[in-house]
Amino acid sequence: MEIKFDNKKTHVYMGDAWDLTKKLLSGKDVIIISDINVNKLYGYSFPDYPVITIGTGEAVKELDTVKTIIKHLIAIGADRSSFLLGIGGGVVCDITGFVASVFMRGIDFGFISTTLLSQVDASIGGKNGVNVNGIKNIIGCIKQPSFVICDSGLLNTLPDEEYISGLGELVKHALIKDKELFRVIEDNISPVLKRMPDLLEELISKSIVIKIAVVERDEMELGERKLLNFGHTLGHAIESTTGLSHGISIASGMMAAVEISYNEGLINKKDVERIRSLFTNLGLLPEIKIRWPAIRDKIFSDKKRRGNNISFILLEKIGHGIQKEYLLEDILKKLHKQFS
Ligand SMILES: NC(=O)c1ccc[n+]([C@@H]2O[C@H](COP(=O)([O-])OP(=O)(O)OC[C@H]3O[C@@H](n4cnc5c(N)ncnc54)[C@H](O)[C@@H]3O)[C@@H](O)[C@H]2O)c1
Repeated sequence: MEIKFDNKKTHVYMGDAWDLTKKLLSGKDVIIISDINVNKLYGYSFPDYPVITIGTGEAVKELDTVKTIIKHLIAIGADRSSFLLGIGGGVVCDITGFVASVFMRGIDFGFISTTLLSQVDASIGGKNGVNVNGIKNIIGCIKQPSFVICDSGLLNTLPDEEYISGLGELVKHALIKDKELFRVIEDNISPVLKRMPDLLEELISKSIVIKIAVVERDEMELGERKLLNFGHTLGHAIESTTGLSHGISIASGMMAAVEISYNEGLINKKDVERIRSLFTNLGLLPEIKIRWPAIRDKIFSDKKRRGNNISFILLEKIGHGIQKEYLLEDILKKLHKQFS
């Protein structure tokens, strides 16, 4: 699949990661960035280039890691012709894209995406960045990779919790843009949870197509791309205050936004219940104990806030998200009500 932007094209490939990398990297001066888990599982298949290995988890997505990687790049002798290949999930991709965007004012990069969440979402669209003091993605930029490789075979080793987390972003794309995709997931809960290969490929590629279409029309998130933040205002706050996975956190954020949509006279009760049962059946709605003051503070630091206003995504119906501007105070009241 090809994504066209004003100044660049990105290619998204589905298939055997190691065959594809051989073709795509030929003649390039490559440096790999991966995490310890992925390196342990797949390092023996990595193409033969220097590897910089980072730790795992959201806590690693901080400026200290960026600094460590840049010191390694200098030590290796990387220059403007170097190519950074991130092999890993959303954390590796977000950090690799950020380092590549700032190292020597920007060098080329690409991803082999190894989690469901990064294949359906994080590696596509050019958003990269890191957290500061636990505030999600508070620094970063939009810069497109040269390519993204999504090899569903790599997902066989993914722990269940991480796989389920990826389903959160997959369902998000269905909810905001594609009622038919929602129905396919709804009708195939057991095969989805069993990671049936053909179905998984179909779901990943449909999800990528949705994301590509939105990002192509609005690379800089001036309008339509904001829909992809559905569930993320509360979701990011839950993720950084509870340590729960990204997908589970944003599923709770989406469910709260669906309830608000219902209270605002948008989505109907039947759709609300379909969404709740899909999340529940996929294991995306565990009982979460939240500390409201901490959540409130995180929402206040959310980068979607503009002064006293915040852009918030609601659903008119399954497959149709809309963006609305709210006073921050109003959205905080509405969200707080969901937890009282
Ligand atoms: N840039 C974007 O547009 C965007 C969109 C959504 C999410 N994100 C970001 O993505 C991050 C979450 O990404 P994630 O869920 O992929 O988490 P992750 O990168 O932390 O990976 C989750 C875990 O799975 C392990 N892992 C990775 N691939 C594996 C494999 N094939 N087999 C076994 N284990 C494997 C990792 O080592 C890690 O422990 C968050 O920081 C989130 O903010 C970014």
